[in-house]
Amino acid sequence: RKILFASSEVHPLIKTGGLADVSASLPLALSQMQQDIRIIMPAYRATLQQLGECPLIATVKLEGYHQPIHLLQAQLPESDVAVLLVDSPEHFDRDGGPYCDTQGGDWADNAARFALFCRAVVAVATNQAGLDWQPDVVHCNDWQTGLIPALLSLEKPRPATVFTIHNMAYQGVFSREVFEMLDLPEALWQIEGIEFYGMMSFMKGGLVYADHITSVSPTYAQEICHYEYGYGLEGLLALRSEQSRLSGIVNGIDTQEWNPQTDKFISHHYSIKNLRPKSLNKKALQQHFFLPESAETLMFGMISRLVSQKGVDLTIDAIHRLLAEGKDIQLVCLGSGEAGFEQDLRVLRARFPDRVGIQFGYDEALAHKIEAGVDAFLMPSRFEPCGLNQMYSLRYGTLPVVRNTGGLADTVVDASEENRKQMLATGFKFTKPTVKDLYDTLLKVNELFSHPRLWRRMMLTAMVQDFSWINSAQAYLHLYQQLVDNS
Ligand code: ADP
Ligand code: GLC
Repeated sequence: RKILFASSEVHPLIKTGGLADVSASLPLALSQMQQDIRIIMPAYRATLQQLGECPLIATVKLEGYHQPIHLLQAQLPESDVAVLLVDSPEHFDRDGGPYCDTQGGDWADNAARFALFCRAVVAVATNQAGLDWQPDVVHCNDWQTGLIPALLSLEKPRPATVFTIHNMAYQGVFSREVFEMLDLPEALWQIEGIEFYGMMSFMKGGLVYADHITSVSPTYAQEICHYEYGYGLEGLLALRSEQSRLSGIVNGIDTQEWNPQTDKFISHHYSIKNLRPKSLNKKALQQHFFLPESAETLMFGMISRLVSQKGVDLTIDAIHRLLAEGKDIQLVCLGSGEAGFEQDLRVLRARFPDRVGIQFGYDEALAHKIEAGVDAFLMPSRFEPCGLNQMYSLRYGTLPVVRNTGGLADTVVDASEENRKQMLATGFKFTKPTVKDLYDTLLKVNELFSHPRLWRRMMLTAMVQDFSWINSAQAYLHLYQQLVDNS
């Protein structure tokens, strides 16, 4: 199969979250299954700086644009997966992130930037770019790629389209004026199109026009058919589900990059056969954060975008309560995001300087050190389409504490007595997104941690779970096959 995989972020070329990890590791898994897959993404300044000079493979004149765009050819680092870069300096050659400026505000021209990206993908997909290669399937990801299925629906012949929802909370909604400015086909402006309560929605372009929608876990794929998780699109999603055009395929993880036996960022490698060095990573982490070195102290970790989705406020309040009661715990936290949450974390550290360590900003190496060093990982998300960190944690024998939602529900098995007896338990789950429920769960974690044998048994169960891409990549492949056969 020939597959064109469109994404606005791809690790390590540019990343703000899990979408980037998936946009690298899924294509890699598919290419290892002998599929002819190419990733297509914008040529951001940071990406070009990382890759250096990339050969030009096509110049495309898009209708309505003064400047032609360039398609550059690159490779996903440490792999042989091809990456096509859509080079339009006016849109992508700037300092800052893929969606935000250096101050953290959205780029004012995001609609224009990603509309251009979508048009370039359509040009490649329909051979207007003159490449000697045409995909059977275009796999789109999140709102930034939503106009691809919409625009492709107007082309004939066209490849099959898959749209994967990584997060319903971001939809790319803009005004009617923006729609006009983008000079999009008027045919798309309808209720059964990209019109959304008088606005235009990129996300809806993907949901309405894609041949098939997937989301990144079976539970989230069901949740988004309901009011609390659907952000106004639950009706459409429920319909697609009824039509068997919406399904959930849980993400895998890159098991090479996240492997406690070989991890290049940690000093002490370990495995189920030799767990002991994990405690040396804990010690190193305590040193890193200037916390007292103590093996018996229950150490919690958190690595996260600091946004309400992740339940950061619940974490701060529940940990605060435990510390105020004098519990022997520590918390280390790596994150960046909303200023209010950063401030609340600073306040917590100021109150308990020998218990709390924080680092703001993005730090790949420290993320690995935390996964390897802490005892338990906090992910009390209000919603979580899939979540990757809980899977990294499991692999590192770091027991995750999660709310029972989305991908967290699908990948973690609660430490109920029953599950523990059957050697199935891998973490701790709670249901209501309240401080009280999280606090009660943390008390349980604390209690179990005081029984090293029981804890160790759970660590071992966690570490042998298989989160490789094999099964999920197979599921995508099966889906592509079905769509191509039906077209
Ligand atoms: P989301 O995509 O919603 O942010 P995921 O759990 O799917 O959540 O993926 C988050 C990814 O981003 C993980 O690979 C995690 O390690 C990484 N990450 C998040 N914040 C940071 C940070 N401050 N520094 C390093 N890595 C981070
Ligand atoms: C989104 C979701 C996260 C998911 C990731 C990759 O960022 O918030 O839950 O793991 O996409 O699919």
